Amino acid sequence: MNVDDCKRAAAHLAASFVSSGMVVGLGTGSTAAFMIERLGERVAEEGLDIQAIPTSEESTKLARAAGIPITTFADHSTVDITIDGADEVERGTLNLIKGLGAALLREKIVAQASRRFVVIVDVTKPVDQLGQRVPVPVEVVPFGYEATAARLEAMGAKVIRPRRLLTGELLTTDNGNRILDCAFGPISDVQALAARLDGTVGVVEHGLFPNMATDVLVATEREVEQWTP
Ligand code: A5P
Repeated sequence: MNVDDCKRAAAHLAASFVSSGMVVGLGTGSTAAFMIERLGERVAEEGLDIQAIPTSEESTKLARAAGIPITTFADHSTVDITIDGADEVERGTLNLIKGLGAALLREKIVAQASRRFVVIVDVTKPVDQLGQRVPVPVEVVPFGYEATAARLEAMGAKVIRPRRLLTGELLTTDNGNRILDCAFGPISDVQALAARLDGTVGVVEHGLFPNMATDVLVATEREVEQWTP
């Protein structure tokens, strides 16, 4: 199995947790895309009757193309199940880094409103300590973002300002904000760093998701393991 086969296997198992009548949060990214495709197949083949809240404009497009009915928080204040990918999963705690696809704010709003938050990853994503392999993406308001970046650097981060591959423009989120990728190195106290980021003026949200996942499905070459906190 290659990495895409692993992502697909985790995505299909998670999609099997969905049943008719549910409001489903649709994550963002390449792994979540396999789940959206699978739910679309189930809608078409089995008449699965769901309504979905996507976490990005990209996932909205994918859901529409897959024939999945879309709803919003105006009609549903809670979500039965959300299925989303992650950039790192900490073994043991199941704390996450998410948002390298720049969708972290909507992802966190939808995850927080969900009764069940299922994270789907391939075997490259689990780590012993968050921050080991990837930076923490931080969504900041455009006004004064240079000053916010300096503040984050003073907190010990190496700050990278991601740009669009094709145009070279600074990355803008679906919410019109900027992203700063903050490499802190291995993070020993996730809650403490999350609290410091939460308290930083100019920061809208960050990609640390402590104590939010209810299930993590990790696809290895041989099987999909189900981890629970
Ligand atoms: C999107 O903003 C992210 O949180 C994604 O869920 C995360 O980056 C995982 O993406 P892949 O499934 O493409 O690795």
